[in-house]
Amino acid sequence: MEFVRCDGAGVTLVFAVEAGGPEQGVADCVYFGPRLPAGEDLGALAAAMLRGRHESQPDIPPRPGLVPERKGGWSGTPALEVRRAGLAVDTHLRFRRAEQGTDRAEFFHADDAAGIAVCVQWRIGAGDVVRTSVTLRNLGDAPLSVERLAALALPVPRRFTEVTSFSGRWAGEMHEHRRPLAPDGLARESAIGKPGFAGGNWLLLHAGEEVLGAHLAWSGDHWLALDPDAQGAADGRAVLLTGARHEAGEIVLAPGESITTPEALFALAPDADALARAFHAHVRADVLPQRAAWGPRKVHLNSWEALGFDLSETGLIALAEQAGMLGIERFVLDDGWFGGQEQRRRNDRTSLGDWFVSPDVFPRGLAPLVARVHSLGMDFGLWVEPEMVSPDSDLYRAHPDWCLHSEGRARPTMRGQLALDMAREDVRDYLFARLDALLREHAIAYLKWDHNRDLFPSAPGQTEGFYALLDRLRTAHPQVEIESCSSGGGRIDMGVLSRTHRVWPSDNNDAIERLRIIPAWSRFLPLEVLGSHVGPSPNPITGRRLAMDFRAKVAMFGHMGVEADPARMTDKERDTLAAHIALYKIWRGVLHSGKLHRLAHPDPNVTGMMVTHEDKALALAAQTAFSPVFDAAPVRLAGLDPQARYRVTLPEPWPPRAQHYLANPDTWRGGLTLSGAALMGHGLALPLTHPETAWAIALERLDP
Ligand code: GLA
Repeated sequence: MEFVRCDGAGVTLVFAVEAGGPEQGVADCVYFGPRLPAGEDLGALAAAMLRGRHESQPDIPPRPGLVPERKGGWSGTPALEVRRAGLAVDTHLRFRRAEQGTDRAEFFHADDAAGIAVCVQWRIGAGDVVRTSVTLRNLGDAPLSVERLAALALPVPRRFTEVTSFSGRWAGEMHEHRRPLAPDGLARESAIGKPGFAGGNWLLLHAGEEVLGAHLAWSGDHWLALDPDAQGAADGRAVLLTGARHEAGEIVLAPGESITTPEALFALAPDADALARAFHAHVRADVLPQRAAWGPRKVHLNSWEALGFDLSETGLIALAEQAGMLGIERFVLDDGWFGGQEQRRRNDRTSLGDWFVSPDVFPRGLAPLVARVHSLGMDFGLWVEPEMVSPDSDLYRAHPDWCLHSEGRARPTMRGQLALDMAREDVRDYLFARLDALLREHAIAYLKWDHNRDLFPSAPGQTEGFYALLDRLRTAHPQVEIESCSSGGGRIDMGVLSRTHRVWPSDNNDAIERLRIIPAWSRFLPLEVLGSHVGPSPNPITGRRLAMDFRAKVAMFGHMGVEADPARMTDKERDTLAAHIALYKIWRGVLHSGKLHRLAHPDPNVTGMMVTHEDKALALAAQTAFSPVFDAAPVRLAGLDPQARYRVTLPEPWPPRAQHYLANPDTWRGGLTLSGAALMGHGLALPLTHPETAWAIALERLDP
């Protein structure tokens, strides 16, 4: 037996590899954990894992290896299922050889009888996040249908006895469910053409505080299986598998052809906060396109919750002028600006596909609005939903065959719309031509790219076509920033993030809901990619009324924006909003580059988070429900140097009612100096008694 060892900054992967022999040639991950000392005896490490054979197991207990198959008695979910001429092929891969670097390795397998070759790639990236993918090649002389191909098959140590999975709905994304991992395991999938609101493409496994996070970087359908006790594993391991989900017959490889899975990602950390920081480091360094060249994340004003479909040039210019006075830096024109010859987008039932500026809204074209936005010192963004078509559109009337449909069947709509067949080159060419023309004709700095329906039927090549269009557009217009939106957070994954600049976490802008939604996404994604808007009050989705101070403080912890009509705010609200926008501009460098920490608090209705960066930190402490006690427990900070001293201030504006309860407002105006040890151990006693009160806490390190 030989070993392949890969090291990251703080992790080690060890693979036992055996070409041929009684185990019939297997490559197996035998260690994934904290970095091992140089010179660790890898043979002893592997031997320490091996168990004996139990009754009622195959005589040679199977080792699932990096590509678990049905062969040899493995009863768990297989990583690979292929067919020829409709018949399942009984594959039996043998490991042949490995190629390795210090932080990466490739494992080549083949099954000559089945006529397939499989290469498994594992690589340790920034943040010690491991990225894996698998390439399958058809070596036979007949077509090979690929029914299932996992991007990852990870042996999970049995100390991970709990799982957090996610569920969600429109306007209610990323509900976390932590529970014991039952012996019958876990199976998730999406079959709607995108990851969906249910968040099945994200998973956390827990061993007490220690946590393992996994994700599939793919914007289409996925499957995920966790087999905690697949009979026959023989070494006490559970196996976590995930991959892109395809319909039977969707992927057929011609002789000599190959397919590579999207990447799966996983990482291990001592606690959930550390795991989030590992993923954030990874996203910043390895996922986001050219992040190093990004400027500060501009404050948006988006027209959707301000005006909806009630658009006119004068109304939009008035909105832009209001935005300019608040300190907004980017004006985003949402849905409703386009249309065709016969019909214009005055509601959500028409005109998708007709990406022409609508003359009834813009008799003089878009240019005067764009020019006014620029003259107010803002750049201009535009909403599009390229993959969709309304049955009531010129595009559909001209090309009814361009949408996804089953011949002879009714074409099921959702939000009154159909989806275009993105696998077709002519469809992509049309969309590219329209988007390219818009971006050439107008100085558009930003696209909000939406996707507002589930796919039924789903179709082969849809996600690949989406990526191809996005990639072509980005190559032609590299300076344009793009947001991935799908009725909120219906299509959020590292695949789309590698091509875009931010995501829309939820249509729900209610600050109380956002205090759950943003921290949930931030388990994997850094604040700078999470669009975070101040919505109207009452909130159109929840009906809740919240003070501007509270809404604005919560929105600062993300990529801040406004999605409300300032003309409908009071002077006081506008002032409060403008003051928070100014505060955000001071602090966004910290919020968008730093390390995120959650702040634990005994009251479950107090949410705290904090970002530390170099010698500065900004914290948020927000109270959502009435406190059961007069004096809420102090808020204990995190991520500070215990030995250092920090200047602590409560930057204004302060919450309107709560400042009445500050016993010593003058002291707070001047700030306090305390050690990291005191701030983390003892905390700060803030007046958190009223529901819907939030404080920002600013820290500056004084001593080295
Ligand atoms: C989706 C988006 C919203 C908005 C509307 C416009 O619902 O999530 O933010 O853009 O579409 O129709």
